Amino acid sequence: MEKEVIQGMKIETQAVHAGDRKRDPNAPGAFIPVTTPIYTAASFVYQSAAKLDRVLGREEEGYCYARYDNPTNAALEELMTALEGGHGALACSSGMTAIHIGLLAALMDRRKVILSASAIYGATTSLLTKILEPLGIEVHFMDSCNLDEVRQKIADTRPGCVLIETISNPLLRVGAMDRIAELTRAAGAALLVDNTFATPLLVRPLELGANLSVHSATKFLSGHGDVLGGVIIGDQEHAERIRTMSRTLAPTLGPFEAYLTMRGIKTFALRVERQCANACRVASWLGSHPRVSRVHYLADPNHPDAAVIRRLLPNGLYGAIVTFELKDARKEDVLAFMDRLKLVVCATSLGDVHSLLLYPAISSHRDIAPKQRERMGIHDGLVRFCAGIEALDDIIGDIDQALSGNR
Ligand SMILES: Cc1ncc(COP(=O)(O)O)c(C=O)c1O
Repeated sequence: MEKEVIQGMKIETQAVHAGDRKRDPNAPGAFIPVTTPIYTAASFVYQSAAKLDRVLGREEEGYCYARYDNPTNAALEELMTALEGGHGALACSSGMTAIHIGLLAALMDRRKVILSASAIYGATTSLLTKILEPLGIEVHFMDSCNLDEVRQKIADTRPGCVLIETISNPLLRVGAMDRIAELTRAAGAALLVDNTFATPLLVRPLELGANLSVHSATKFLSGHGDVLGGVIIGDQEHAERIRTMSRTLAPTLGPFEAYLTMRGIKTFALRVERQCANACRVASWLGSHPRVSRVHYLADPNHPDAAVIRRLLPNGLYGAIVTFELKDARKEDVLAFMDRLKLVVCATSLGDVHSLLLYPAISSHRDIAPKQRERMGIHDGLVRFCAGIEALDDIIGDIDQALSGNR
């Protein structure tokens, strides 16, 4: 659909239409597929060599080589650009690739210093400390939910790039992205936000002042547990840069995965709304369960970041993830609880149509020493639940029967 038509429409509408049914001005009257097909061609030809010359020289729009661009990926990129309100996007082979490319794009002409939130996805921490730092990039960490600390660290470290996640894992903390964006901009740095947990239905980082927003498309965007993918969306400066960089670095998502991701996104708003509603009810039910000692959920009025959450997430959707602690549970109690779950799938992902449960101590936070984990508030009894779209009663029934065994 034409960009101008879709531009002012709501995100639910954009999710269904953006990127599809592109008209080819060179082939008026030709049929137009209602949804974008999978283009597997590695290269593209034209009627004239002169046209190929113009496309290769980027004087004219078109496709010449799949590492540079591909119509299936381009459709997904246009869709994500619309959903996140960006200038352009790049579909990548995984969320980690998207983060890597985003960091390189942010640092390209800035000080090679990254200031990152400390509570970020484990593999992102590894990318920073085990790959980028040994390559000579300075890396610093901060508590991104403490604005005074953010201000001080920006002044002390003078970063080229600030990296945060919209909602932290697994304790679901939310930093003041809009204020962090102001501080980052004033320091001449670029703000890169991992928006995987929130999705553009809850938060649109570029509208809050971020320069780059990244997703693991493996999660809510594709939503069916059958794709590994990522996407990075940028403002004008960074969108152009990631497009140019991608021609050489080739982080390219395969066209089949691009197709599946786009297919998933058409229903993402419906799915995420339902998942948020299920999560909200599960969180309040868990709150009064005798076998549960603590529940972390964004709708909680006593959440430590409640004021920021109200400001950044104004539409009453508080995410699909609920983190909770099994009362007095040691590792073997949690493993037994997981074994008793019959419906909820115990796997290391989130955002799928099926409910998922993850045990941070043996997965995402496995490599962190137990004492350090405790200090971070990630106790041995803590599990992360991500609501699917199943009937609420069935989800609650399953968790209830599994908790009942914990006596
Ligand atoms: C917040 C977050 N960012 C990035 C990633 C990495 O995504 P992928 O596994 O698609 O590379 C994950 C994966 O779980 C994640 O949870």
